[in-house]
Amino acid sequence: MADRPILTTSAGAPIGDNQNALSAGARGPLLLQDYQLIEKLAHQNRERIPERVVHAKGWGAFGTFTVTHDISRYTNAKIFSAVGKQTDLLLRFSTVAGEQGAADAERDVRGFALKFYTEDGNWDLVGNNTPVFFIRDPYKFPDFIRTQKRHPRTNLRSATAMWDFWSLSPESLHQVTILFSDRGLPVAPQYMNGYGSHSYSFWNDAGERYWVKFHFKTQQGHRVHSNEEAAEVIGRSRESYQEALYGAIDRGEFPKWTVYVQIMPEADADKTPYDPFDLTKVWPHGDYPLIEVGEIVLDRNPDNYFAEVEQAAFSPSNIVKGISFSPDRVLQARIFAYADAHRHRLGTHYEALPVNQPKCPVHHYHKDGQMRFFGTAHGNADAYYEPNSFGGPVEDPSYREPPLNLSGPARRYDHRDGNDDYSQPRALFSLFDAGEKARLFANLAAAMQGVPQFIVDRQLGHFEKIAPEYAAGVRDALARLAGSAEEAALEPAE
Ligand code: NDP
Ligand code: HEM
Repeated sequence: MADRPILTTSAGAPIGDNQNALSAGARGPLLLQDYQLIEKLAHQNRERIPERVVHAKGWGAFGTFTVTHDISRYTNAKIFSAVGKQTDLLLRFSTVAGEQGAADAERDVRGFALKFYTEDGNWDLVGNNTPVFFIRDPYKFPDFIRTQKRHPRTNLRSATAMWDFWSLSPESLHQVTILFSDRGLPVAPQYMNGYGSHSYSFWNDAGERYWVKFHFKTQQGHRVHSNEEAAEVIGRSRESYQEALYGAIDRGEFPKWTVYVQIMPEADADKTPYDPFDLTKVWPHGDYPLIEVGEIVLDRNPDNYFAEVEQAAFSPSNIVKGISFSPDRVLQARIFAYADAHRHRLGTHYEALPVNQPKCPVHHYHKDGQMRFFGTAHGNADAYYEPNSFGGPVEDPSYREPPLNLSGPARRYDHRDGNDDYSQPRALFSLFDAGEKARLFANLAAAMQGVPQFIVDRQLGHFEKIAPEYAAGVRDALARLAGSAEEAALEPAE
């Protein structure tokens, strides 16, 4: 016992007995003055914080990003400044709809959230395992998420709500096709790609701007479950992703991704036939080829899941010099939404928590509030406003982004007006072989069970516009399911 630390209260007072509560007599009641007991119970009452409103179930690990190819002509971001340069990072994967206790092997989009601890501050790239998204106007995000979460009366997830919304929102077709294809149910985080999804921007020392998309291709290969395999996995374990990711890293099998960018010169944005800032569209590789940049390796499991994964706060608002936003309006809403969510979920100074703390000097004038556990942020108590004459931190114009031209009358533009929601899903559908198509049809039909026929018909109308073969395939799969249900009903009871 002599070499073990002495247990204390959280105020540091050594504890003499951590086994027995303080009672009046051997068989008597407890005393209110047993502060050790009160402290223990009070802390337990506060052990849970609100879960993320979306992406609540997650799995994370630490690692590094290494530059393998020079892209410094596009960006002066220090993270890309030299071949061989390494930057520490945290990567959190997640499902979207399920709560914290949800099973891992569920069909859903997966989050792919990166925090790069660069010398110019944290750069967060909060993407998914899909290059596109269900909506292109952020005004629809809360409505969309409502259809993914529980019905207010039944407290069950509702296929009717999902297909009602999707069939009324044809911009979702591209993402829906990916979700119900093989890649909608990866075996574990290391077997899927990641995408920044949005268009972002790079800028360089010459003041030139490029639009950019980020891609992370798995080096482990794509591995996916069928619905039937996933049901069997969930029957055995609800934590198959945590087991696979934690286990692999623990055994020294470090997952890797190759990092690529697509680069579009600023002026091209006015020329592409599709809106390059529309989150429901990809930039075809034929137009903007993948340029290899580097590699990500995950090589360290967190020591404490709550402190390092649950308390991690990723936000698309966290950009660094040389990397910036774009006119993608979903991205713009996210610039607000995440930091706001973190202030609610974690507290005002959430960025001072160790996992979120930048690994570079931080000097700001934000003042008090929850979690103000750092002292004077920049060493001079008199410099608590700006401008000041007492040596407080000041701006540096070399960090100014080149100006961006914006124009156009302010209006609520109809984002569906003249937009082609069918060509890119068609390009994807034509990549699928016969087996992939058959599984896509079966997965869609299974997910539509119980949905009113008029909603199914509306959705089939969209599939028809992608390709008649697509609609016919889903129609057949629906008929087969209806046939087996009828057969089952006719079978004599045992
Ligand atoms: P390409 O043939 O050049 O690229 C196809 C892309 O699709 C590759 O990134 C590939 O990823 C991915 N892919 C291949 N098979 C599947 C599959 N079964 N399910 C999902 N993704 C798959 O074509 P384009 O760039 O012209 O794009 C055609 C379609 O491919 C798009 O409409 C889009 O749906 C999809 N896609 C395009 C991406 C892009 O950024 N252009 C990115 C991802 C998908 P991998 O190399 O890992 O196999
Ligand atoms: C998590 C909002 C679209 C990927 C979250 C959270 C919020 C949110 C509030 C929880 C944050 C937290 O508590 O830490 C929104 C809004 C969107 C949007 C308002 C659109 C208007 C997207 C898109 C992507 C995405 C398009 C991917 C391309 C993620 C990921 C997480 C997340 C990966 C989990 C981050 C983590 O691991 O902590 N989102 N989201 N979201 N979102 Fe979004």
